[in-house]
Amino acid sequence: MIISCAKPIDQIVVWARLSALVVYILFGGNVSVYAQLNKSKPVYPGQIWPDNNRNHIQAHGGGIIKVGKIYYWYGEERAKDLDTNYRYVSCYSSKDLVNWKFRGDVVNMTDPEKLGARWVLERPKVYYNKNTKKYVMYFHLDNRNYKTAKVGVAVSDKPNGNFKFLKSFRPLGQESRDIGQFIDDDGSAYLIFEDRPAKGFRIAKLNDADYLSIEKEMCLIKAPLEGGAIVHYNGLYYAIGSALTGWRPNPNKYATAKTLEGPWSEFVDIAPPQTNTYGSQSTMMIKVSGTKSTTVIFMADQWRPQTQWDSRYLWMPLQIGNGKLWLPEPKPWQLNVKTGEWSYLNKKSK
Ligand code: GAL
Repeated sequence: MIISCAKPIDQIVVWARLSALVVYILFGGNVSVYAQLNKSKPVYPGQIWPDNNRNHIQAHGGGIIKVGKIYYWYGEERAKDLDTNYRYVSCYSSKDLVNWKFRGDVVNMTDPEKLGARWVLERPKVYYNKNTKKYVMYFHLDNRNYKTAKVGVAVSDKPNGNFKFLKSFRPLGQESRDIGQFIDDDGSAYLIFEDRPAKGFRIAKLNDADYLSIEKEMCLIKAPLEGGAIVHYNGLYYAIGSALTGWRPNPNKYATAKTLEGPWSEFVDIAPPQTNTYGSQSTMMIKVSGTKSTTVIFMADQWRPQTQWDSRYLWMPLQIGNGKLWLPEPKPWQLNVKTGEWSYLNKKSK
C-alpha cells in the first residue's frame, strides 16, 4: 500500500531499502560477502557442478589444457541413456576454471578396432601442438576385460572437435591402462601411463613435432599406481597416483623428484589414509600461476559406478612446497584466476 501510494522518487528509496534488507538477511550483514560477490563463483568439492546449461558437468577422468586465455576441460561423457554402441568425450571451456560452457561431445565414436561389446574409452587427454596447430587427444582404449591395454589417438583442427580417430598403439611397446597428461613449464608434453606387468607407471615424452608418437621414455616409476598426475612446482616434480582398486577409492600417494628421470622419493599419503582421499581418485594437477601467487589444484573423480552420470569431482587447492604435498579437507573455496590466489568460502563473519 505504502509503495503504491508513494511518488516515484519515494518508491525508489523504498525499493532500495527493501533490497538492502534482503541482502542483509541473506548474508548476515557481512561486508566481506559483498567483496566475495565480486570474486568468482565458488567451487563446491563433491557436489553437482552445473555447466552453462545447468547440466552436471560430464568430464570424468578428465584433463585440462590452457590455450591462450581459455581453459578446455575434456573428459568421459557418461550422461544417462547414451547409445551404448558409442563412446563420447565432452569438451567444456572456461576463463576462470569455475564457470564452464559445454562445447559439445567432441568424440562420438563406435568401436574403432573390433574390441567388442562394452569396449572402453577412458581418461581422454588433449594436447595442443603449436607446430601442426592441431589438437591431439590420447585416451585409454581397451576391451571389456581391460586386456587390450593400448592408447588411442584422435586429432582435431579445433578444440571443440570433431576429433577423428587416427590410430592406436602400446606406448614404448608396453601395456598402457590409466593415462595421465603433464605439460612442463618449457612446453614439453608427456604421457603418463600405468604399466601393469612392470608394476609401475611410466613417463614418456611426446614427439615435439606433432605429438603423434612417443619420442623417449623418461622414467619407469616402480610403484603400482594409476590415475597418474604430475606437477612441476618451485623446481621440484611432484607425482600423485592412486592404488589399483577399480572404482573404489583408496589412499592416493605422492613422491617427488628433481628431474622427471628421477630418482623419485618413496610414495606417501596425500591425505589421512582412512578418508580414502576423501572418496576420490586422482586424474590431474592444475597449476594456476597468477600475478600474486601460484595455486596447484588437485583434480580428482568421486566415482559412482552404478550411476556413473552422477560421479562427482573433487577439486581442492593443495598445500605444496619444499618437497611436501597435502590435500586439505575439502570445503567450498574460491579461486582468483588472475592473481592465482584462493580462499575458503566464509559464509559468516567471525
Ligand atoms: C579404475 C580406473 C578407471 C576405470 C576403472 C574401471 O582403476 O582408474 O579409469 O578404468 O578402474 O574399473
